[in-house]
Amino acid sequence: MHSLIIFGASGDLTSRKLIPALYKLFLKKRLPSINIVGFSRTSMDDNAWRGKLAETTRRFAADVFSEESWNAFALLIHYHAGDIAKSESFASLDSYLGVLEQAAGEADESNRLYYLATAPQFYEAAAEQLGAAGLAAESPGKSRRVVIEKPFGTDLVSARHLNEVIHRNFDESQIYRIDHYLGKETVNNMLVLRFANAIFEPIWNRNYISDIQITANEDILIGRRSLYYEKAGILRDMFQNHLLQILTFTAMEPPARFDAKAIRDEKVKVLQSIRAMAEKEAPLNSIRGQYRSYRDEEGVAKGSQTATYGAVRLFIDNWRWKDVPIFLRSGKGMSCMSTQVVINFRQPPHSMFKEFSNSVPEGNRLLLQLQPAEGIQIHFMTKIPDTDMKIRMSELNFNFKNSFSGVMPDSYERLLLDALHGDASLFARSDEVEAAWRIIDPIQKAWDSGIMQDPEFYETGSTGPVQADRWIESFGQKWFDLC
Ligand code: BG6
Repeated sequence: MHSLIIFGASGDLTSRKLIPALYKLFLKKRLPSINIVGFSRTSMDDNAWRGKLAETTRRFAADVFSEESWNAFALLIHYHAGDIAKSESFASLDSYLGVLEQAAGEADESNRLYYLATAPQFYEAAAEQLGAAGLAAESPGKSRRVVIEKPFGTDLVSARHLNEVIHRNFDESQIYRIDHYLGKETVNNMLVLRFANAIFEPIWNRNYISDIQITANEDILIGRRSLYYEKAGILRDMFQNHLLQILTFTAMEPPARFDAKAIRDEKVKVLQSIRAMAEKEAPLNSIRGQYRSYRDEEGVAKGSQTATYGAVRLFIDNWRWKDVPIFLRSGKGMSCMSTQVVINFRQPPHSMFKEFSNSVPEGNRLLLQLQPAEGIQIHFMTKIPDTDMKIRMSELNFNFKNSFSGVMPDSYERLLLDALHGDASLFARSDEVEAAWRIIDPIQKAWDSGIMQDPEFYETGSTGPVQADRWIESFGQKWFDLC
């Protein structure tokens, strides 16, 4: 049997994501035999916590919620009050878990998954306490794993330090660093598109591809997260993790097998091949903006320089990608939500249609719409039906909703299940996280120093700073936008 212990049980993540995902897995009968144990300082009993979670799950899993199924699921939920700073809380957690395991009659086969959903400043203490209390020690039939939420550090130095602390207590094979983008169906489908089809891989390289654009735009604003966001900003919040993870799936070499080592080895190689950017190169290779009303948000400093929009140009120095510019972009307060990968192909080398029409063939485009309109488009030139010879771009359009019935599972469903089953393929390894920080650090340092222009204001609901369009055009490219 499994025990899933959630540290930070009273936090937002638990009620918005973790419990609804577990509830949905329960409805689908995918959950193994399990006890879900909440751990945080507030003292309450099982029923009080179940009651709180019923309320939030009714909202966050509204499409599938029923009182009857919830009541059955709620029996798996328990609560144990404790303080991460106190060693006695961990000793008592251990005995509490022991009692639950005994009651299930499966104390000899008891796996524990510790989920750190606390504020990040408690990650180290939690790892140390788990280690000191002997709760990280594995034995046959008794796995002990730890899931760590983002942000994993705030720069390379802090990420390395956090890795060291966790490694003092857990072996790397026990550690699951979560990036929920890796649990998204469409992100996973990138591997299938590339490596379960034979037609894409031969052209997936510098000979055919002119540039790549990876965008994660959101229409939402900072809301009540200013305390975190003022310190983080767009680079730490979206680039170091989500955008670079999507980039690894876009650019990696084909792994030999679908397993944690093979996949993560290839991802790390991509990150390590990204051309190091010196701080002084950041003004040329990046651009930042701030939505105009950001400084009016509660908790935001009046003269805040925190970027809510960013775009970065990177290069991967290897045989496949040499000199192909990769543009990463993300913004809050944009005209719409859209996460997409755009693969722009080179123009045909010669056009025989020039004399008939002014239209010059554009390069083909492959558009991977990761969310919200999940799908894939291929853009290609077609003849406009008429008696003359005019051509224009058309689209082949694949859409998940039309092709598959059922609702897209939430990424936490997939990732929680993988962690429970001990599959770390979709979790970041220590060298991966550090390699990602190595890429972001110099850009962030440049942004924090005086060498960049101030972030340009852009209107909420726009396509971002005007300068960002000029910036990409200066490299001979244009943003491809769906909205
Ligand atoms: C989080 C960021 O990791 O991802 C948020 O902290 C962002 O700022 C969110 O809004 C986006 O996730 P999703 O799944 O809605 O694209």
